[in-house]
Amino acid sequence: MTSRVPTILVFDSGLGGLTVFREIVALRPDARFVYVADDAGFPYGRRPEDELSARVVDLMGSLIAAHQPDIVVIACNTASTLVLAQLRARFTVPFVGTVPAIKPACAASQTRLVSVLGTEATVAREYTKKLIADFGQGCEVTLVGSRYLAVLAEDHLRGEVVHDADIAEEIAPCFVMRDGLRTDTVVLACTHYPLLDAQIARLAPWPISLIDPAAAIARRVVELVGRGQTDAPPAQGRIVFTSGREPPPPLAQALVSFRLVC
Ligand code: DGL
Repeated sequence: MTSRVPTILVFDSGLGGLTVFREIVALRPDARFVYVADDAGFPYGRRPEDELSARVVDLMGSLIAAHQPDIVVIACNTASTLVLAQLRARFTVPFVGTVPAIKPACAASQTRLVSVLGTEATVAREYTKKLIADFGQGCEVTLVGSRYLAVLAEDHLRGEVVHDADIAEEIAPCFVMRDGLRTDTVVLACTHYPLLDAQIARLAPWPISLIDPAAAIARRVVELVGRGQTDAPPAQGRIVFTSGREPPPPLAQALVSFRLVC
């Protein structure tokens, strides 16, 4: 793309996109970053499709005008599986999306039993069903729509107590036994869920591989913006909350560990 320092805008409904953001920072520490959390609209997982498309397209128009990014990363499966094509048609800036990593998961599964854990909206999308039809490679794919896991992940990042039983209940349908075989691969199809990956792995009734596409998304971003100065110390990025609210102190502290300030 260009050898000057690019501005990379990372967008999510909330704080889940930080799991993608940190991988991009690792590869392009010298870039200028703006992280936008649409906390005024969070969670996206239960919003009607028409309303969510209009919301994200409108918001993106204002964000592009305000921040003039060289690239936008939609670090949200719930939005990407719905609105990525519309965004690309509407704006000239390149977009990188985040969609369920069904292809690598099905390629890696030994037992051919794969689960896709996402928001209720993501697992219901035509886009997700097409990924399974195109890349399922004969695996039995179980779609698990979680109602509360994204909220629990945000609670965890804010330093609030999140009970194991609540996480265990959300992930339970991922674990399928069939003819003596067990699910061995779970796709984390919501960017919030890697914030709870240690808990998910610990609470799983048997060992599983968790597939998180964040590193692959970061590599794609670098393909588009170029390599830059990889040994640069990470610069401080800016985080914008669409609600305009200031983050409470424990969250502000967590954001500092991501090198983000309001
Ligand atoms: N982080 C978002 C995703 O990847 C969804 C969370 C939500 O807003 O429900 O789908």
